[in-house]
Parts: sequence; structure tokens; C-alpha cells
Amino acid sequence: MPIKSRKFAVLGNPVEHSLSPVIHQQFARQFGHNIEYSRQRLETESFAQYVQDFFAAGGGGLNVTVPFKLLAHACADSLHASAQQAGAANTLALRENGIKAWNTDGAGLVNDLTRRCNLALAAKKILILGAGGAAQGIIGPILDCGPMSLTVANRTQAKADQLLSRTVPRYPEVYLHADSLQGLAAGERSFDLIINSTSLGLDGSQVTVAAGVAAGAFCYDLSYGKSAVFAQWARRAGASGVADGLGMLVEQAALSYEIWFGVKPDTAKVYQLLAEQLDSSD
Ligand code: ATR
Repeated sequence: MPIKSRKFAVLGNPVEHSLSPVIHQQFARQFGHNIEYSRQRLETESFAQYVQDFFAAGGGGLNVTVPFKLLAHACADSLHASAQQAGAANTLALRENGIKAWNTDGAGLVNDLTRRCNLALAAKKILILGAGGAAQGIIGPILDCGPMSLTVANRTQAKADQLLSRTVPRYPEVYLHADSLQGLAAGERSFDLIINSTSLGLDGSQVTVAAGVAAGAFCYDLSYGKSAVFAQWARRAGASGVADGLGMLVEQAALSYEIWFGVKPDTAKVYQLLAEQLDSSD
């Protein structure tokens, strides 16, 4: 029996520009579900209490965005393997044993790469730029696809080293390598897929990867819309294909929706709608 007429929300700070309410209302229409989905801007101190009160009042589910994904992981009573592996959570729901946390970001990215972008990740050479929270959320599901190698290059190489040192024991069969952005430019190695997880673009900085590294690769930017400066740069640098993170946004939302309602939304239609809206707002 699907949950009907219940409240859902995305928690973040800032959260005013989140597309999650639009996406989830579109999904709800596909199934005739009647949901309320709001954006809630919270302060760190009030996060855990808000979550408790939300579910105590009968709330159906929560999405969690920056900067609360670690807190969402910490405040849950139980963790799905996806949240455990990522050390962060973006989806919360009530289960028999209390509040449970999931992380649908990595699986959402993989779904977008493999289904909409038609890329096979098995046996491929993959590069992730950045080693922050976003990289941490996607690395497990990417490695689960069985690439030949994964390089993580970060401005601060120590963070790439740390991220991989936590990962290596679980993936002995994949060649894992940490680098700095400068080292990467000097090495001029080639990759099949480059994923930008840095917050470049949000602060107006220029992309610092060498064009030779990007040429011929498929380049995927986790940012979308005007913030996707890496995607814009990759098009000019001769990438074999380019996508921004709008598809991942829709896919991770679809996985949250499935956790809450047990049904799989049609993501292609919603992606199309949002892509057209973003185009016309340029
Ligand atoms: P998120 O949760 O979005 O990943 P984060 O954890 O703060 O945010 O990580 C931001 C990432 O973007 C980091 O990899 C950061 O590099 P550092 O670890 O060296 O700080 C990267 N980043 C941010 N601004 C950058 C810039 N101007 N050039 C290169 N990398 C940048």
C-alpha cells in the first residue's frame, strides 16, 4: 500500500535552489501519489532535532543535501550499506527499528552514466577530480562496476591519499592511484572517463586539468547548469562526450522515491523537462 498525502522535504543550507521538490512532484504525478515536498533551510544545531520531530509527526521521508550529509549519517538509527560505505547519507526514511539512512548519490551517478550516457564502466580507466564529500559518496558504486583503474586527483593530494587508503582494502582487484592536480597535468595520462567532483565553478575558479588529459575521454561534471564549468571546458578540450550532473540529480532522486514508495519512477521524462527549463533560463 503506497504512502499517500504525506510530507517530504529536502534539508540543506542553502537549499532555496534545490530542484528536489520539482523532481519529486513530477515522480508523484506518474503514480497519482499526493505528496507535499518542501525545502527546509536548517542550521547545524537544529538538524538532528528537526529530523526526529519530522518523523515523529508522521513525515514520509527526507532528502539531505550539503552541508548535512555527514550529520544525516550520524543521526540515523540504522544504515543501509550505501550510507555505510559512503560515510554520508542523502536519504532518510522510517523503518521498524527507527530512522534509516541511505546514500543514493553513487548509484544515481552510475545509473545516469550507464543508461542515459550509454557508458560501460567495466575495465575502463577512470579519473575522479576532487576528494571531498562528493567524491566519497560516489567512489564505492563506481568501483563496484569493475573498472580497470581509478585515479583520484585532488588539489590537496593528502586528501586523495586518505580517500583511497580507506577504499583499497575493499577493491584489491582495481589499480587505485592518488595524485595531485598538478601531477596529473604533468603526467599527461589518458582516461576513458573523467568525473569532476570538485566544487570548481561554484567559486568562479578556472579548471586546472590539462587539455591533453581530457581529450578523447568522456567527461562528466557532478555540477549542473551554469555551475558546470568543467563540462563547458571539456567540450572545448575535445572530450569524446560530455554530460553535467542533472541526470545524476534525477537518478538519485528516483532511488530515494523508490525507497519511500517501492516504485521506480520514469526518469527520462523528468530529465527532459528539467533540461528544457534550465536551457530556457540561460
Ligand atoms: P563536496 O562535498 O562538494 O565534495 P568538499 O568536501 O568541500 O565539498 O570538497 C570540495 C572539493 O573541491 C575538494 O576536493 C577541493 O579540493 P581540496 O581538497 O584541495 O580543498 C576541491 N576544490 C575546491 N575548490 C577548488 C579549486 N579552486 N581548484 C581545485 N580544486 C578545488
